[in-house]
Amino acid sequence: MDKKSLSAVVGTALLAAASSAMAYEAGDMVLRVGVANVNPHASDNLGLDVDDDTQLGLTGVYMLSSNIGVELLAATPFKHDIVAGGAKIGETKQLPPTLSLQYYPMEASSAFQPYVSAGLNYTTFFSEESVLGDTKLDDSWGLSVGVGMDYAISDNLLINAAVWKIDIDTEVSVNGSKVGTQEIDPTVVMVSLGYNF
Ligand code: NI
Repeated sequence: MDKKSLSAVVGTALLAAASSAMAYEAGDMVLRVGVANVNPHASDNLGLDVDDDTQLGLTGVYMLSSNIGVELLAATPFKHDIVAGGAKIGETKQLPPTLSLQYYPMEASSAFQPYVSAGLNYTTFFSEESVLGDTKLDDSWGLSVGVGMDYAISDNLLINAAVWKIDIDTEVSVNGSKVGTQEIDPTVVMVSLGYNF
């Protein structure tokens, strides 16, 4: 195949990919399954560090229109070591479900669908363990902002990458006494495969 017809074929394929792509429309559901990494940016309050963890991540999106979606982020429980002065002093598990409103600026026919999102996070901590004693981390409500993109690889299948920045602060108690508030404020990164119903 010469260069000219090759570029014609590639051009046609790109056009086909762009136009055959899933056209998001009101009532569409998109389910995405992948890996999600939660990387806390624990800041000084209590002088603690919280390490990162990767789990199975799930997002479900319901399209209210071709440009606006509602997304729920869920995952299997994340487990984090809690570190003080370089030494592990405990660990905790947490679930951070996040409900967001998304805006997709591209035309519905585009194969490439970037979006921005803003939402509300609820994080519950459980299975806390600590050398300090009976340790409890309070549940947290906070705001979340995010960006992501879908790329259609067929009418229904897509690949997705997304990042959320979530405000998570938790009040820490040891043996029934409050010892302070710990900022967790993680960045969540997820890469997934999606299906558009
Ligand atoms: Ni915070």
